[in-house]
Parts: sequence; structure tokens; C-alpha cells
Amino acid sequence: MDVQISPSILSSDFSYLAQECAAVSPAADWLHVDVMDNHFVPNLTLGLPIVESLLKHVTTPIDCHLMIEDPDRWAPAYAEAGAGSVTFHVEAAHAPVRLAREIRKAGARAGMALKPATGIDQYADMLSELDMLLLMTVEPGFGGQKFLELVVPKIRRARELLGPESDIWLQVDGGIGLETVEIASEAGANVFVAGSSVYGADDPIEAISKIRAAAQSAQPS
Ligand code: DX5
Ligand code: ZN
Repeated sequence: MDVQISPSILSSDFSYLAQECAAVSPAADWLHVDVMDNHFVPNLTLGLPIVESLLKHVTTPIDCHLMIEDPDRWAPAYAEAGAGSVTFHVEAAHAPVRLAREIRKAGARAGMALKPATGIDQYADMLSELDMLLLMTVEPGFGGQKFLELVVPKIRRARELLGPESDIWLQVDGGIGLETVEIASEAGANVFVAGSSVYGADDPIEAISKIRAAAQSAQPS
């Protein structure tokens, strides 16, 4: 399976957002934009007006990760604005099936995210409603945290539920870098969010290439 890399602009310099996006775009499959509302997570980042502005200036598709309360109310607007992928947290959604359908209807890929302690099996029957499942490998809210190995069995279980050649992508987010990408890839993830390991590198493009190569070589055959 081909792997994809989605650099998280959370670790970029927000004063120069368009340039920071351009700095990773040539090597990135997606630009991962972390929307935080200071309620679902204890941090506040950016919202729809900034995503709308970015969409005018970047050609790489935008992968919106919404760490917000009441995504049922707010998420479809990100899809309508033109984000290529919109991911909501199941812990915050009131009607995840309806919401996934609304995101798709608005023209985006529908993603659903699980925090590290949220189990996957109870959602097995609704995976077909999704284009992507995001398993958080840190508690959401901040960049630069350590990868939680306790999530690895859930990555394996999710891959088992999806099947080896599923059209539904399996994304991991949090603490992904050269030291951790292989274990996540070997367990079955195929889309990798990387923030501090990309923007903290001297050469972000080279960092993405190395992470991609490591992920690709660790993919289950
Ligand atoms: C954390 C965000 C991540 C974050 C990852 O809640 O969802 O996307 O930017 O940052 P790193 O890669 O530094 O863990
Ligand atoms: Zn994220």
C-alpha cells in the first residue's frame, strides 16, 4: 500500500503561514490543519476564516483535523469551503454517521478520529461510512508530545477490521517521526501526520522524504 504524509502546520510559524505551507508542500500529500477550540482540547489554534484563506494560497489538499466540541454543527462548513478531508472526533460528535454523510455530501473525504483511550470495536459497523479513520497516538491538544505505544494494538485491530487493501485510510497523528513511524506503519497505518519532526528539522522536505521512506519500508507485505 502506498503511504501518505500529512505535515502538521501546528508546528509552523503562524506569522508566516502561507510560506510555511509552501515550505513543505512539494513533498507533502496533504497539509494537516489542526483546528482547536479550547473546549474539546485545552488549546486554541485557528478556525474556518484561516482555512478559507489558506485554500486560496495552497494547492496541496487540506486535511482538517477538528478538535472541537459540536462538530455536527461546524464540520460541514470546512468541507463546503473546499478542504479535501475533514476529520471530526467521535467523542465530540452527537450523530457520527449523519455527520460523516454530510461531510461527504459537501464534497470532502470524511474522517473520524479516536483519542488514545477510545476503543475501536464499538465503531466497527460504521467504518464503511468513512474515508479515513484517525487514531491519535498522543492525547490531542499539542504538538511535540511523545508517541503512545499503548495505541499500537488498536492500530493493528483497526487494520484487521478494515482489511489489508481497504479504501478507507488509516491515519496516525502524534509523536510521529523517524523513530516511531515504522512501528505505526508495520501495525497497519498508511497516512502519517508529522508536525515537530518536520517543522523542527533543518530541512523539512528531506525530513518528509525520510519519514516516507521509513514508513514505506515498514508496510506489511
Ligand atoms: C495534536 C495534533 C497533531 C500535532 C502533531 O493534537 O493533532 O496534529 O500537530 O504534532 P507532533 O507531530 O509534533 O506530535
Ligand atoms: Zn492533528
